[in-house]
Amino acid sequence: MTPSLPRRMLLDLASAGLLVFGLSYWWLGNAAHELAGTAMFLLLILHNVFNRRWWGRLPRARREPRRLLDGAVTLLLLGGMLALLVTSVLISNALSGVLSAFGGFTLRQIHSLAAYWVLVIVAVHLGLRWPMIMAVARGLLGIETASRPRALALRLLAAAVAAQGVWSALVLGLAGRLSMQVSLDWWNFEESVAAFFLHCLAIMGLCVAVTHYGLQGCRRLARQARRPG
Ligand code: HEM
Repeated sequence: MTPSLPRRMLLDLASAGLLVFGLSYWWLGNAAHELAGTAMFLLLILHNVFNRRWWGRLPRARREPRRLLDGAVTLLLLGGMLALLVTSVLISNALSGVLSAFGGFTLRQIHSLAAYWVLVIVAVHLGLRWPMIMAVARGLLGIETASRPRALALRLLAAAVAAQGVWSALVLGLAGRLSMQVSLDWWNFEESVAAFFLHCLAIMGLCVAVTHYGLQGCRRLARQARRPG
């Protein structure tokens, strides 16, 4: 039996949390990092079992822009997660007795590169289903009617999170991490732990907002283009 959408989303929230948690390797230490990563992959296997119908429909899906984009992002996410999984196994300390021939600097770099790309792609994946996530949130909070002031407040909040996300991307040197630039200048967890997680969440918020409002903008433009005269 497949759990209800709100319960499934709790599992999704846990996977996203474990992904962000895993990025704090230098705070967690190796054992907690490997445990968090293993739990995340197990949750993601469940996630895809629950969403197996989507994979079944993929070859016959209508070739419209929104679906093509969703398909491409999901396949990219699959590729990123597989790269993360394979490099995790090869560089794992827990498995080093079995796989002692592997490891090394380049594999670690690919692992970290995949992790930051996955962070961005997961956020785009969430942005593509933001209306569904908001509908579940409204259901849980018992909100039944639309409200202009609430919509405006949420848009302002989204703009603030996106602006913070740009700043957080600069602070964490995201561009360098996504282009595999080697840097010794890394987050000092002795100064603050919470700030690191807030920067990661703000970056995810930025990607969600760009995807969701970008799609809304494209839809509006397409509607205008179809209007006669
Ligand atoms: C931390 C990682 C991830 C998070 C937070 C996440 C989040 C979500 C959410 C919120 C949904 C909609 C609710 C649901 O069906 O559960 C969803 C749907 C889906 N996800 Fe993920 N996901 C993640 C990773 C992945 C990965 C790695 C894949 C594929 C390899 C994937 C494939 C799918 C598919 C196929 C759907 C169904 C799409 C649909 O029916 O429109 N997800 N995901």
